Amino acid sequence: MLAPDLSPSDGARRLAAELLQRAAPPPTDRSAGAQLLTNAAAAAAASATRVTQAAQPASPGGLVASLLSARGCLTLARGVWSDALRPGDIAVDATCGNGNDAAELATILARRASEAPASSAVGRLVALDIQPAALDATRARLDDALRDFGAAERPHVELLLHDHASFPPSLAPGSVRLVVYNLGYLPHGDHSRTTTAEGTVRSLQAATELLCVGGMITAVSYPAHPEGVREAAAVHDAFARLDKHRWRVLVCRPSQNEREKFLTVALRRC
Ligand SMILES: C[S@@+](CC[C@H](N)C(=O)[O-])C[C@H]1O[C@@H](n2cnc3c(N)ncnc32)[C@H](O)[C@@H]1O
Repeated sequence: MLAPDLSPSDGARRLAAELLQRAAPPPTDRSAGAQLLTNAAAAAAASATRVTQAAQPASPGGLVASLLSARGCLTLARGVWSDALRPGDIAVDATCGNGNDAAELATILARRASEAPASSAVGRLVALDIQPAALDATRARLDDALRDFGAAERPHVELLLHDHASFPPSLAPGSVRLVVYNLGYLPHGDHSRTTTAEGTVRSLQAATELLCVGGMITAVSYPAHPEGVREAAAVHDAFARLDKHRWRVLVCRPSQNEREKFLTVALRRC
């Protein structure tokens, strides 16, 4: 799959260049939002580089291998979150499941608060799921992830038993920096409690109303089961229909296998 002479630094450079090229605004576009997605692509590539270097120090093409691995989409998504979130931001996990993504979001928000001088820098995380067991698991993961942060750094957390087809009224339009989806069902849970094409498309539409300028939606789709196939196609179409003046969309599909997961990032530009 990889060219035999592809060194790690070449791989890193090529991947970063490809991501930047896909995300870069046209030469006349200097909006802060477009710049943010450019930065996010660079952060994702840098984050993946760090992961790769730690995990596979001597592996040729290690960065590319990392992004093509089973967790590549999640690595990229987390790089995007890390670049997007600012002190005091609001993040929404629309499918909190076992709480791994929520724990990552909470940790980033806590780090941002610890780097900022003002107490107004404390962020807020709203995590939704339709299964009580998912909220319990997320609560436990968050307790663990935030243990080493002080009260002034920990984000305000709301765990809600709530269908993401709509969002709670406490989330004002235009107030949210990041809405995150990890679609599908819990791997070791009830597979019938899966996200659906119709529900997720409604949710994405509602999420677009929540985002501030410069805010982002990330969605990892899993077209590996019948509803997941329908949902992935519907999600892809929903992102493609977004107003091109207001939104930029980046699709990262690390495999030619149509049943493999892929990441979509949408940035609100204005
Ligand atoms: C793949 S899991 C999420 C993984 C999770 N983000 C994590 O880090 O562990 C998908 C989750 O979506 C939840 N879900 C399914 N339909 C939903 C809906 N309509 N609204 C909110 N959550 C939903 C499921 O209960 C399941 O926990």
